[in-house]
Amino acid sequence: MTVHFIGAGPGAADLITLRGRDLIASCPICLYAGSLVPEALLAHCPPGAKIVNTAPLSLDQIIEEIAAAHAEGKDVARLHSGDLSVWSAMGEQLRRLRALDIPYDVTPGVPSFAAAAATLCAELTLPGVVQSVVLTRTSGRATSMPEGETLENFARTGAVLAIHLSVHVLPQVVEELTPHYGADCPVAVVWRASWPDERVVRATLGTLETAIGEEMERTALILVGRSIGAEEFDESRLYAGDYDRRYRPVGTEPRFPGTGPE
Ligand SMILES: C[S@@+](CC[C@H](N)C(=O)[O-])C[C@H]1O[C@@H](n2cnc3c(N)ncnc32)[C@H](O)[C@@H]1O
Repeated sequence: MTVHFIGAGPGAADLITLRGRDLIASCPICLYAGSLVPEALLAHCPPGAKIVNTAPLSLDQIIEEIAAAHAEGKDVARLHSGDLSVWSAMGEQLRRLRALDIPYDVTPGVPSFAAAAATLCAELTLPGVVQSVVLTRTSGRATSMPEGETLENFARTGAVLAIHLSVHVLPQVVEELTPHYGADCPVAVVWRASWPDERVVRATLGTLETAIGEEMERTALILVGRSIGAEEFDESRLYAGDYDRRYRPVGTEPRFPGTGPE
């Protein structure tokens, strides 16, 4: 018996991995985090599967469900939105499962920042402009930020910030970032990336609040940085005609002789 933690992706039902889909289909029990996991994914469950929305359950109750499945020798598909490596509450479940000696594995999913960047058709790391992306958030009712992980500290680096769980405090985000990035810095907010009701606003830090208006939906990502919508950037050296590399040796004395494609 194994508990399969599966990244369910950002919302569109076809943005799950084939491995994730096949695992759902193989498990007689499916626990899903109902608030953000698309219900259409549940169609992959086998006929007669027990399907439980864990949104209203406590951690203790979720572990009880898993322990009962373990006692019956039944595999569990455990679905969380996006990818499991960020803000999934997987860590605390895995710790309980280790204590109970219940086996598990993890299948990655498409994270929401990647879905939002895809909506924008944006490469966030453009040569000569930005080479780092920080996945972060602001303090919430349930989670405070560790000292040092402030927006200001990240902003000092000039990296692109993918700010989660924070659209409800947008004025504060804009106020903290503007001194570092400048009021003309491009910003995009993507609500419910990849869902049918996805919405996008592109603006600058200076114009964002007016551009957004009274939007209430909170499932949104704020992407801030100079690479968003940029046209002025260097071409990657990787594909430069004169760049000698293992898969495309160039010149009379390449650094990687004989290693080119067949
Ligand atoms: C609890 S976190 C889950 C993050 C998820 N594990 C991931 O990989 O992106 C929820 C936050 O992620 C962001 N988010 C999740 N799905 C999103 C989507 N489809 N579009 C935009 N933002 C999304 C929002 O900032 C939301 O408040």
